[in-house]
Amino acid sequence: MTERTFSIIKPDATRRNLTGKVNAVIEDAGLRIVAQRRIKMTDAQAKKFYEVHAERPFYGELVAFMTSAPVVVQVLEGDNAVARYREVMGATNPAQAADGTIRKLYAESVGENSVHGSDSLENAKLEIAQFFTDADIVG
Ligand code: CMP
Repeated sequence: MTERTFSIIKPDATRRNLTGKVNAVIEDAGLRIVAQRRIKMTDAQAKKFYEVHAERPFYGELVAFMTSAPVVVQVLEGDNAVARYREVMGATNPAQAADGTIRKLYAESVGENSVHGSDSLENAKLEIAQFFTDADIVG
């Protein structure tokens, strides 16, 4: 089934000029980038986006990291896009990520792990709506 998922190319990747290389892995995997914008996330945006992790010990560090440099927010479209993108990203901890995945190729640590992808279709819709309107998405 054709789905849309939400992606973020994180500060560790934009800092190292890896946007194009990450996008190449995404496109080579058959996912289409149907919306994309480079932004500097505000503290309020990052706190809201990671609200579910508010009680975790790494929440403050995570919000500080996500607002430390520009990010690229994206909508990806394709067959089973949510699960497909999670495969393409690899495990959250790059030490456990499979060969060829974005995190194996580029991530620096569990915190600075280059990309975010939605974990469910329901969350994908909420995350997309935080950063894009329907008019921004050209499928
Ligand atoms: P992400 O998919 O963006 O969603 C939650 C993020 O929390 C996750 O990627 C990691 O970047 C971050 N995270 C998870 N575990 C840790 C940890 N132990 N220390 C720091 N950051 C973490």
